[in-house]
Amino acid sequence: MKVFVPKEARPGETRVAATPESVKKMVGAGLDVMVEQGAGAGSHFSDDQYEAVGAQMTGDRQAALGDTDALLTVVAPDPADAAALKEGALLVGLLSPLQNLDLVRRLTESKVSSLAMELVPRISRAQTMDALSSQASIAGYKAVLLAAERLGKYFPLLMTAAGTIKPARVVVMGAGVAGLQAVATAKRLGAVVEVSDIRDVVKEQVESLGGKFIELPELGGGEGEGGYAREMTPEFLAKQREIVTRHVQAADVVICTALVPGRKAPTLVTKEMVEGMKAGAVLVDLAVEQGGNCEVSKSGEEVVHHDVLILGPANLPAETPVDASQLYARNVWALLKSLLDEGAITLDTEDEVVDGALLTHAGEVRHAPTRQALEA
Ligand code: NAI
Repeated sequence: MKVFVPKEARPGETRVAATPESVKKMVGAGLDVMVEQGAGAGSHFSDDQYEAVGAQMTGDRQAALGDTDALLTVVAPDPADAAALKEGALLVGLLSPLQNLDLVRRLTESKVSSLAMELVPRISRAQTMDALSSQASIAGYKAVLLAAERLGKYFPLLMTAAGTIKPARVVVMGAGVAGLQAVATAKRLGAVVEVSDIRDVVKEQVESLGGKFIELPELGGGEGEGGYAREMTPEFLAKQREIVTRHVQAADVVICTALVPGRKAPTLVTKEMVEGMKAGAVLVDLAVEQGGNCEVSKSGEEVVHHDVLILGPANLPAETPVDASQLYARNVWALLKSLLDEGAITLDTEDEVVDGALLTHAGEVRHAPTRQALEA
């Protein structure tokens, strides 16, 4: 079976879907791995390192696309690349189907089977394949470093000969995978960290990392399907904003990570709240691609509003490409390995993981929300 690992085409994308480590495992499992020249360069993996573990390097992307049985990508490939795949080939990647309907159309037309890494169900058996978690964790870590670098203050408490420096105050909105990593990172840097989330179970997790949970009295738990947050009412969100306002106003750094699956991200920091923040404070909105938790943030841009710096980084994992690629490549290999049967890929649609992640197969769109979006 032939596997092809291309150089990612998206501008600014530094990650790669297979590393020398994962290629070695694929080759060991009997797969024929082809890697596009320079595919690992953004993550500091050289062509020589891939060759040393048995990959074949190619400069002819089109030929490799047309010949491969499985195309492994980080993000959605260009629809033209997908159209070059042969019928029955497999595509694996973080495909963001709702944002890439053209691609989905091409995949169905050319009867390519595609597995969207973000649709892998978050069950225990599939934890090693959980790319959402591996990449979100990096984003949470990097968001704090970004804020620390841009903040004109120390993070830790310091007692110096010239007097005491108070620790920075960090507020984290949303303590899923990214938020918890943000809490851990900010604590390691010595900040005082407060957290707002609507799921009750989060409180203990936050406290175990040394963070303080902002209580939302009389508001009840916000846990919905599959352990995720449910969509809260506008009244709830208004009350929540009222409660968190004073914490946000005292903060030096605010990290926003709150998401509700399939919905626009909740607005947790309004323009007025930003106007009440400390001069020189930094807000990093990781929810910016889903509409943002802060009214002022813009995707991929820096905004200064009332002397508050608001960052809306579009792809933070790509700024930590070595580890982001290592982890992602392991996620992809774990999924691919689970599909191999005597060296060939078998897509068992009865299997919970395959059934959940399979976006297109045999000319059909299997993911209902994507199908509905295409029909609309
Ligand atoms: P996410 O990225 O969908 O959401 C981030 C956070 O935002 C969540 O904690 C959510 O409760 C919070 N949020 C939503 N609305 C909010 C609001 N109005 N105010 C404050 N916070 C709000 O979540 P993520 O990071 O993908 O994971 C969430 C949960 O999924 C985990 O805690 C866990 O329960 C489950 N999970 C399970 C895994 C497994 O079993 N393999 C792996 C990873 C996650």
